[in-house]
Amino acid sequence: MPDREASVVTGGNMGKHKISRRTFLKRTVLSLFGLALTGGAYTRFVEPIWFEVQRLNLQSKRLPDVFHNLRILHISDIHFGFHMNAERLQKIVHTMNQEHADVICFTGDLIDDGFVDVSSAIPVLKQLNAPFGKFAVLGNHDYRHTTPEKSIDALKQAGFIVLNNAHVELQLQGQKLAIVGLEDWFGGKPNLEVALRGLRDDQYKILMAHEPDLADKASHYPVDLQLSGHSHGGQIRIPWMHSSPWNPIMGIKYPSGLYTFPHSDFKLYTNRGLGMTFMPIRFLCRPEITVITLQNSHHT
Ligand SMILES: [Fe+2]
Repeated sequence: MPDREASVVTGGNMGKHKISRRTFLKRTVLSLFGLALTGGAYTRFVEPIWFEVQRLNLQSKRLPDVFHNLRILHISDIHFGFHMNAERLQKIVHTMNQEHADVICFTGDLIDDGFVDVSSAIPVLKQLNAPFGKFAVLGNHDYRHTTPEKSIDALKQAGFIVLNNAHVELQLQGQKLAIVGLEDWFGGKPNLEVALRGLRDDQYKILMAHEPDLADKASHYPVDLQLSGHSHGGQIRIPWMHSSPWNPIMGIKYPSGLYTFPHSDFKLYTNRGLGMTFMPIRFLCRPEITVITLQNSHHT
């Protein structure tokens, strides 16, 4: 078949150029190939380590006065061992310590699976500082090919208090705030009644639960704020889609960001996580460190 020609006529001194259809197609294919390569490299090498510090203020009239402006650093889904090593974690810990948070909450998936040697993560996580303490729950990957003791031991050695259907109370000038932790939905037996036992209904409570979709249940309890992870935001997002098609079970309804609930003052925040799983890629879904400032609404 003869090669048909397309003409491009330009003004001024440009003169008249002719580009054959074959050349045009070649250039188009090469451009698309270059675009795909660039996009692939970005998804694989740039965004996975391009951390975003997400900041938000949350108001509540139930927050005790003395805890007004309490800063919570919320992290999730480290997935140590899967494209997350001690060196990369060290950089993240350095960034986190610069936030000078009062409390650190880690919502699970310390390891990617039980075959991982997590020992080198311990001295790094131990460097995290927070005057009111460091608290953690486990995620589904902390049970993968192992028993939960592996992550529990590592977190304890790094200075975290692991809350398995349990709570702690922070005390300041005689006022209290509770941090409650649930067992993982897949590997454990989350039990809110047990976790909340002994706390007053009118007391301000932060609930840590790996899976965000547990909020459908938790929002009917006297809890003020749920912190979750698990979804990784889907890791890959398609620009025109509201939600990623790759959100996991129990991370589908509330995959990332802040959610409010019409029937109560309950709020949920889902963190996109620090690490990755299944594939070491992220697109339009940067890894996240969240800094939440709690405020008493009477003061704002
Ligand atoms: Fe995860």
